[in-house]
Amino acid sequence: MLKNKARICVFVSGGGTNLQALIDAQKSGIIKNGEIVLVLSSNREAYALERAKKADIQGVSVVKKEFASQLDFENKVIEILEENKIDLIVLAGFMTILTEHFTSKYPKRIINVHPALIPSFCGKGFYGLHVHEAALSYGVKVTGATVHFVNEIPDGGEIILQKAVKIRKGDTPEVLQRRVMEQAEWKILPKAVELVSKDIAKNK
Ligand code: GAR
Repeated sequence: MLKNKARICVFVSGGGTNLQALIDAQKSGIIKNGEIVLVLSSNREAYALERAKKADIQGVSVVKKEFASQLDFENKVIEILEENKIDLIVLAGFMTILTEHFTSKYPKRIINVHPALIPSFCGKGFYGLHVHEAALSYGVKVTGATVHFVNEIPDGGEIILQKAVKIRKGDTPEVLQRRVMEQAEWKILPKAVELVSKDIAKNK
């Protein structure tokens, strides 16, 4: 029987190593109930767009500061998602805020990867390297990554998967960031995408 896969759009802003993990997981069959059909970048220079191109996935840039308001920006994004019949949105290092206007349109259809064990080191201001700086300066011995559904509360939606990563003596934020990506983010993000895609595909 021909399967209806969930149509996935990955939102990116930078290097796109999590996008790469998703592309690789699709190739290796870890993701089988979903298909990445679009990559949406908030930054025209994002290396993630190169990764999409290499994988033959359509890429589009929507830059917030080119719009008169947050509302206009979000409406443009919604228009693109509707045109492409997107079922699932994956925030993979997406650094632009999305308000309730956007998130309320996609309940349980937006997931995010956060580089800490929520509810630690999350919410407003905790993104990218800042998260690892905060974990090191607090002195925690274990950190990790979380994949969760996105709602109107920053990093506040239901948790899907988490994985812990040990902090080592002498870690810098950069070294820790890399370990959290390798040991946690690149593993649990594809798994969570498959879990949610399976659910969407079942009802499609
Ligand atoms: C990742 O570590 C991701 O968890 C983080 O940004 C990095 C993006 O890297 N996201 C956040 O901090 C969101 N709050 P990538 O572009 O190489 O995937």
